[in-house]
Amino acid sequence: MCSIIGYYGKKNAAPIIVKGLKRMEYRGYDSVGVATESNNQIELKKGIGKVNEVNSKIQLDSLPGKIGIGHTRWATHGKVTDFNAHPHPSNSGKIAIVHNGIIENFEELKKQLQDEGYNFKSETDSEIIANLIQKYYELTGDVKETILKTVSEIKGHYAFVAMFENGQLAAARFHEPLIIGVGQDDFFLSSDVLGFIEYTDNAIYLENGNFVILEENKFQILDYNGEHVKYGITKISKEFGDAYKGDYAHFTLKEIYEQHETILKAGEKTQEAIEKTADYIKHAKNIYVTGSGTSYNAALIAKQIFSKYAKIKAEPIMASELQFSPDSIEENSIIIAVSQSGESADVLDAVKIGKQANCKIIAIVNLLTSSLAREADIVIGMNCGPEIGVAATKSFTSQLVILYKIVQKLSDNTITINFEKFAETILKILENPKKIQEIAKQMKEISDIYVLGRGINYPIAKEAALKLKELTYIHAEGIPGGELKHGPLALMDSNVFVIIINPNDSTYLDTLTSAREIKARGAKIIGVSDIESDVYDYWIEMPKIDQVLYPISEIIPIQFLSYYAALEKDTDPDYPRNLAKSVTVK
Ligand code: F6R
Repeated sequence: MCSIIGYYGKKNAAPIIVKGLKRMEYRGYDSVGVATESNNQIELKKGIGKVNEVNSKIQLDSLPGKIGIGHTRWATHGKVTDFNAHPHPSNSGKIAIVHNGIIENFEELKKQLQDEGYNFKSETDSEIIANLIQKYYELTGDVKETILKTVSEIKGHYAFVAMFENGQLAAARFHEPLIIGVGQDDFFLSSDVLGFIEYTDNAIYLENGNFVILEENKFQILDYNGEHVKYGITKISKEFGDAYKGDYAHFTLKEIYEQHETILKAGEKTQEAIEKTADYIKHAKNIYVTGSGTSYNAALIAKQIFSKYAKIKAEPIMASELQFSPDSIEENSIIIAVSQSGESADVLDAVKIGKQANCKIIAIVNLLTSSLAREADIVIGMNCGPEIGVAATKSFTSQLVILYKIVQKLSDNTITINFEKFAETILKILENPKKIQEIAKQMKEISDIYVLGRGINYPIAKEAALKLKELTYIHAEGIPGGELKHGPLALMDSNVFVIIINPNDSTYLDTLTSAREIKARGAKIIGVSDIESDVYDYWIEMPKIDQVLYPISEIIPIQFLSYYAALEKDTDPDYPRNLAKSVTVK
């Protein structure tokens, strides 16, 4: 999604803002802009493209002044144009705003403002915030009153920062993240701690329905009744500042390679939380596991391993669908919410529905300071460090490890997993991607990929297809092997590639039969298996490991394949088009 940032301090604001935006670029990135205050005037530059591209064209970082705001946009209302990029000035040019989220009643407010003589230059919902603020500031001459009146009119999910021409900053938060960074003699406002971690590790997480006013080197935090609120300063883990590619060509590649370490950190030092979770689960009426995208695929695996190893029924729920059947949640149950960011709007909404049904919430989450973590009764941290590549890689395997740890506890340790030994196996898979690189070269021109898996391997087939489509833009679909003859077989011909997830488990022979049926129709077969077969045109050899761990290991070669095929197709693996890392809108 969009990122917003504000700086108020003693240093030049624009270079700090540009750097912060660059670090948060993973959230959304079709256009970028910066506005600063200098000599009681607002200066503003914005354009289409990535932060570095726009900056080298129009030198965003050369804007003068010690106070400023910035934005990277991921278009929702209106096309990707210079006019639609943020910051948006108000009609008088005396106020500029940056906004993340959606103003649901913007058409009504726009019409109202137009009737009062305001003009609009963009197609965005955001521009109404700038003009509402201008209207109320002209009426009251007071920033606090202006923000109170503005937030009482706008409906939706939002976080915004407004800059006044006298250098005051005001920012409000309602269901979109906004964090205050408190430095030695400067302040930051940001969608993510990555926006300021380089300068301070002191953060205040603004609560929903709170706003902050920054002036004369001090700040006040108020609620929407205008009352001062209590707040705490959180120390941010410096680890989150460690968001550099190092020697790797891309974050995605680095994050794939980190997995032999991150699977050992998953759920580390959370033994108590895992025990408590197992206890809740044993006494709950029903268990639901929810998430979106990759995290939902982890929920599908949870269903399989809970029933197979702990004889416990867990129902996976796609977070975005729950709003249409809220009654399917039985009272006094458990919701395990899986989310890397902890900020996915769909997941937060699912949790809200669960809370209304008196459910306990268990969060499996990477960002421990996220909205999800703060909503949960129990939090289990993935601890995999910042995942910058938009496509989830290491966070998925960390989610699986935590789910396995819960199952291990539920099974009274009848399944034992030696994660240390498993990490060595993962390292072996990671050491040799050469063959996968060769296969990726063959995929350059193809238009369709199908990924087949049965039983517990089916969610991995789905996750594999998701990775391939995100990174390569090739149409990809996960298919349960048994369903082939019920329809998808009609699609098989010499123009398609089919990946067969085929470990030596109870699904092995049936899946091999499916592979033969497909091969007979001329499709190329890539087998991901610990057993070689003549049916595979390309064999990705998997190590022989304990069956229990097949799913976690199987996804890694596909992550590599997606990455290398993306390079072949000349797409940017870190920032796939149209996607954003934290999907904070619905
Ligand atoms: C896929 C991907 C997305 C996310 C989804 C949920 O590679 O990255 O599908 O998995 O948007 O995000 P989180 O886990 O942050 O809730």
